[in-house]
Order: sequence, then structure tokens, then C-alpha cells
Amino acid sequence: MPVNAALKSYLETRRSTPAFQMSEPGPSRDEIMELLAIASRVPDHGKLAPWRFIVYSGAERERLSSELAKVAMARNPAMAEDMIKVEKNRLTRAPVVIGVISCAKPHVKIPEWEQVLSAGAVCLNLSMAAHALGYASNWLTEWFAFDEGVFPLLGVKPGERVAGFIHIGTQKMHPGERVRPELADLVTFSGE
Ligand SMILES: Cc1cc2nc3c(=O)[nH]c(=O)nc-3n(C[C@H](O)[C@H](O)[C@H](O)COP(=O)(O)O)c2cc1C
Repeated sequence: MPVNAALKSYLETRRSTPAFQMSEPGPSRDEIMELLAIASRVPDHGKLAPWRFIVYSGAERERLSSELAKVAMARNPAMAEDMIKVEKNRLTRAPVVIGVISCAKPHVKIPEWEQVLSAGAVCLNLSMAAHALGYASNWLTEWFAFDEGVFPLLGVKPGERVAGFIHIGTQKMHPGERVRPELADLVTFSGE
């Protein structure tokens, strides 16, 4: 079997870069569209495309981060100064943040679970597409992915869920290796 050595090596060493270690430049608008075309090419039972994208870039990231910080501070008035700074920069660490939104809903044939899994596949595919174009990426959720109170602010519609906020930018430094699970603990060959 011929081996695609470059792809194999990439998959064997793939690594996320923490968002705070990213800098400009991020992908251009054309590159973002290219990334999303690749990201959309995922297994999707029934061809439902049960996901969509919201792109946060430029000054809009600052506006939204400051609105998110207001909500966080209202909920926790005793918030420490360093946490306030974190809240004010939620969407500004990377030049581009792409929300992968799961629109999974009951369907006569396709289980909702499969639709949700497809959105997860989109997130990883988007992350890998970013790497293919030379960018670093990080799949994050954080509190505002689960807080329906801020969904209108972020453009997430009722009934939708956030599969991930994929942060994309240029790597400032290599993040180093991350401990991986012991494969022997995870694998069972049925019948043995
Ligand atoms: C659905 C999902 C949500 C995640 N959310 C966060 C998060 O909010 N904060 C965080 O530090 N890491 C989060 N992670 C982990 C990072 O995406 C990433 O997996 C980790 O930093 C290292 O992964 P790597 O194997 O790609 O290097 C999340 C991962 C997944 C799959």
C-alpha cells in the first residue's frame, strides 16, 4: 500500500497552538472561504449539513469581547483584575475566530447524535485546513459557548449549539508536545 508520507507525518505530529500564543497575520477573507470549503467536506449522514459558520474578525472581535466581559463582570462583580483582562480578550487572542455552530435537530432517519458528531468533524477539519494553509489553530469552547444568554450577541440562533470557536492565526512559538493517552488502555480487539 503506497504511503502518503507527508500526510502521515502531519497527522502523527499534529498539535494545537494555545490562542494566547498566536499573532497576526490571520487568514484573509479569500483564505477563510477556502478554509470553510475544506471544513465543510466532512462525513455528513443524509447530506443535511447540520452546521454553519460565524466568522469573527477585525474590530468586531474587540466589540464582542468587551460585551462578553460586561456580562461576565455583571455575573461576578468580585472578579479579579487579571480575570477581567482575560474576559476582555476572549475573542482577540487570535486574528480570526470561527464559530462552528451545530444546527442538529430531530430527523425522521438521521439520529441527532450523528448530526452533532458531524459538527465535531467540521471543527477538526477546519483546524487541519488552517494548518494546511500555514496557520496555527486552537479548538476552544469556553463559558460563552454554553451560555445561551450571550448567544444573541454572538449570532447563535435559538436551538443551535456551539461546537467550537476555532481560533486561527500565526504561530509565535512551537507549543511543545502534549501527553497522549496510552493506546493499550484504549484498544480492544473484539474476540481476543
Ligand atoms: C470540544 C472541545 C472544546 C475545547 N475547549 C477548550 C477550552 O475551552 N479551553 C482549552 O484550554 N482547551 C479546550 N479544548 C482543548 C484544545 O482544543 C486542544 O485539544 C488542546 O489544547 C491540545 O490539543 P492538540 O492535541 O490539538 O494539541 C477543547 C477541545 C475540544 C475537543
